Amino acid sequence: MTPRVGIIGVGHFAGYLIAGFENAGEMTALRLFSRTRERAERVAAGHAIAEVFNSPQEAIDGATVIVVATRPADVEAALAGLTFSKDQVVVSVAAGVTLDRLQRLTGEATAVRALPVACAAINKSPILLMPENAAARAVLEQLGRVYALRTEKQFDAGTALVGAFYAMIFPLMDHLATWTAAQGLDDQLARSLVVETISGASAMAEHARNVPFQEIWSSLAVPGGISERGMDALEGAGGLAAWSSALDAVVRKLRGDG
Ligand SMILES: NC(=O)c1ccc[n+]([C@@H]2O[C@H](COP(=O)([O-])OP(=O)(O)OC[C@H]3O[C@@H](n4cnc5c(N)ncnc54)[C@H](OP(=O)(O)O)[C@@H]3O)[C@@H](O)[C@H]2O)c1
Repeated sequence: MTPRVGIIGVGHFAGYLIAGFENAGEMTALRLFSRTRERAERVAAGHAIAEVFNSPQEAIDGATVIVVATRPADVEAALAGLTFSKDQVVVSVAAGVTLDRLQRLTGEATAVRALPVACAAINKSPILLMPENAAARAVLEQLGRVYALRTEKQFDAGTALVGAFYAMIFPLMDHLATWTAAQGLDDQLARSLVVETISGASAMAEHARNVPFQEIWSSLAVPGGISERGMDALEGAGGLAAWSSALDAVVRKLRGDG
């Protein structure tokens, strides 16, 4: 049977999800509702698996899994007055919306949190899920690899890494490409070298998945060599500690305290 998935809140992020479901090729029927119908139609345009409905209740009726993709502050208004059945699963992707807060809005349905990121559009997203849920997992696995977490604390840390750090990689790549180009390399070449260096390191880490990162580093950083020199300079400028401070700041924001 064709899986049916409702999406409430069809803005920027839902566009990535819709593209990912379509690329996955499983012909999931997407039943969309959003506050501004015209915007939802624009986002859904060209995606044959997506249909825009006039009311949220119509969109969710008949769906086994419903994804809530409004901004966090709009989740209550988006779900108010809706009737869910007990065999439905409501998956919120709204950053910082706790499971308790969500479950209060979803009646008999099972509430879960998830965090895919934009590369869901190309089916490559790491996806956080809390708690484990078979129906939500089956749907989300179309968009990438699903990792179940157990607590809100774990989910906040995971959101800082998978959500915020994912985005922060792009300014880092930009910084590295700009530096490389400033040394006289062609812009496009500098861009390619940055991307391929990072993807090569990621592929190596994936290939040697049981080898600790520190061990890989030691195998690369010859004493007195160039990698060691670079790392010393980075640490001297507070390099790695700045990244953990940044993730701490994200967690504080998710918890509403800073
Ligand atoms: N952007 C990312 O990469 C990313 C990654 C992970 C998670 N998320 C999460 O995804 C969520 C959406 O982010 P976004 O960037 O897509 O925001 P967005 O572009 O503002 O989209 C949110 C959509 O929700 C609609 N909406 C608001 N209130 C509604 C209601 N009461 N009923 C139905 N629809 C309603 C909005 O309608 P209008 O068109 O009328 O404004 C808008 O289309 C956020 O909670 C964010 O934490 C985003």
